[in-house]
Amino acid sequence: MNKYAKARAHTNIALIKYWGKRDERLKLPTTNSLSLTLNQFYTDTSVQFDERLVSDQVCFNGKILDQAAARRITNFLDVVRTQTGMQTKARVQTTNNVPTAAGLASSASGFAALAAAASRASGMRLNHRELSRLARRGSGSATRSIDGGFVEWHRGIGDRTSFATPVAPKDYWDLNVLAILIDEQPKKISSSKGMQLSQATSPYYAEWEKLCKQDLKKIKIAIKTKDFEQLGRIAEENAMRMHALTLSASPDFSYFAADSLKAMRLVQQLRANGIPCYFTMDAGPNVKVLVEPENRASVLSTLQAAFGNDKVVVAAPGPGVQYLK
Ligand code: DP6
Repeated sequence: MNKYAKARAHTNIALIKYWGKRDERLKLPTTNSLSLTLNQFYTDTSVQFDERLVSDQVCFNGKILDQAAARRITNFLDVVRTQTGMQTKARVQTTNNVPTAAGLASSASGFAALAAAASRASGMRLNHRELSRLARRGSGSATRSIDGGFVEWHRGIGDRTSFATPVAPKDYWDLNVLAILIDEQPKKISSSKGMQLSQATSPYYAEWEKLCKQDLKKIKIAIKTKDFEQLGRIAEENAMRMHALTLSASPDFSYFAADSLKAMRLVQQLRANGIPCYFTMDAGPNVKVLVEPENRASVLSTLQAAFGNDKVVVAAPGPGVQYLK
């Protein structure tokens, strides 16, 4: 057997965050989450199962990874091998297409592309729900990168029911996300570790679960009615609630860099000056700003003046997973 497939998946930004698992191995989340797939940042991955290989070979951005570094990918391939009942090792080539190395490399686009390429190369033919369930085994946020536009990941009642479904396609609403690239701090807590610590020690965790349910309901109405201010307000609030779980953990930690706070303040100032724009932030210092096209230029010039022209990337809603030649 010598089976090959290649796929492209885009990253997504969560507007209602996923921050906690109820099953580590299956990556079942504590809450539903909702995201927007972005057009600018994506991963291309090819997988070739080859009977001559004695171990998996992983090449990441042109460099061969050693076994330890490739472990997460190998573990994921094991899930695919178990599901198809085969033992064949694979050659994986993956390239991240991000404007700089400023912490935008994403496990969401990475595992979504790997799930699509590996499943197809192994002979499986999965629909989007099944594919998102599989991507989930690599990284929680990858569950939401199988579809384009607005996407909801359902916590489900177990492995079979925890997958993502589209909420609105990429062309439904003309919006922009301005990604501000902020330098990484040397010390970094992975999202996996960060969510574990928050869940185990933040006294506010139970409240987070409750609030996410309400935020989700409200944001879906905002999407349906294309109410930008409501969408942005809910997303911003939900992001800050997630970060409050890191600040209230024991020991406490934070993903905020000085420039992240500066970016947030700028967004608030723009708003005070009558320009609707809202921020969100994940488990890293980069800040993403939601804005409608008519206000894009003024928000962009303010952010560029503060951070530098090459530090702000303009993104828009992006597509779901694609198979490549
Ligand atoms: C803050 O998907 O990276 O971006 O499932 O452990 O791989 P694992 O975590 P990951 O967590 C993403 C956390 C987040 C919020 C989100 O994308 O919903």
